[in-house]
Amino acid sequence: MFDSIENEISGIVRKDAGRTETLLAVCELLKDKVPHYDWVGVYLVDGGTDELVIGPFAGAPTEHARIPFGRGVCGRAAETGETVVVPDVSKDSNYLSCSISVKSEIVVPIFKQGRMVAQIDIDSNELDAFSENDKDFLEKICGIVAVLF
Ligand code: SME
Repeated sequence: MFDSIENEISGIVRKDAGRTETLLAVCELLKDKVPHYDWVGVYLVDGGTDELVIGPFAGAPTEHARIPFGRGVCGRAAETGETVVVPDVSKDSNYLSCSISVKSEIVVPIFKQGRMVAQIDIDSNELDAFSENDKDFLEKICGIVAVLF
């Protein structure tokens, strides 16, 4: 499943419809094709502010439009530059809740020329939804979409 989605995403990115539209299409595709991806969004690094700002997303609107580095799962990934997986959000004391139905989360940074420019954030309504396969797959996807920045 992941291989065919990766090919589709490469095709979408190659079409070059503009960054916002392309990222939205990628979020929608991931949410539609992967059953355990229930909210898929992009947070952008807001240059010079040490904050993330919400970009395109597929799923319900979130109140977390801006997230300081260090806050929540997204802010931690921003601070460390590493993928963060939270298998059970109810056990995480530095977690920003968007919806009570969310049980686990993964955040994967997007790098452009060694600099973190954005991240893909995915929520799942399943406990412990994200495996090493998800992590590898999403890190590849972040590498593909990095050309948009
Ligand atoms: N849960 C995230 C906030 C963003 S929402 O999932 C859309 C966090 O803890 O950083």
